[in-house]
Amino acid sequence: MSAAEPTRRDFLYIATGTVGAVGAAAVAWPMISQMNPDASTIAAGAPIEVDLGPVAEGQVIKVFWRSKPIFIGHRSKKEIEEAQKIDPKTLPDPQPDSARVKPGHDQWLVLIGICTHLGCIPLAHQGEYDGFFCPCHGSQYDTSGRIRRGPAPANLAVPPYEFVSDTKIRIG
Ligand code: FES
Repeated sequence: MSAAEPTRRDFLYIATGTVGAVGAAAVAWPMISQMNPDASTIAAGAPIEVDLGPVAEGQVIKVFWRSKPIFIGHRSKKEIEEAQKIDPKTLPDPQPDSARVKPGHDQWLVLIGICTHLGCIPLAHQGEYDGFFCPCHGSQYDTSGRIRRGPAPANLAVPPYEFVSDTKIRIG
């Protein structure tokens, strides 16, 4: 892999109304565009559209909707399999992976990136389940954003969203 290629641990931070990226390494980031109204309208709750085209497999990007961080993950085959193989009945907050993604779009995971314990923002691709890890008190979420271990009482929430094309979603 060349230095210019993003890795699966890349984590893009996309500011509302801007196209921006900050990461652990200064590499060439894919451009993520949000087809959005102005910031004040967004803050009031307007839907936002996110182009998924530049999000490489294994990446998780973050956008903002209603001032909340939204994680959008392009899951790998392995991550999907890990999410699907677990019996939901064994989970603290039982929910099948199929209830957390859109039909035919298993590779896309869209979550409100706020820990359901006390509201910290979890880290992507961290923790025992290779999903999300909340460093505040150690909650661990899997590759479907479901709570697996730690004090959080519930899965990371899925915001209202829909696919408006194969590569674009509208959140809100
Ligand atoms: S806020 Fe996430 S574990 Fe407490």
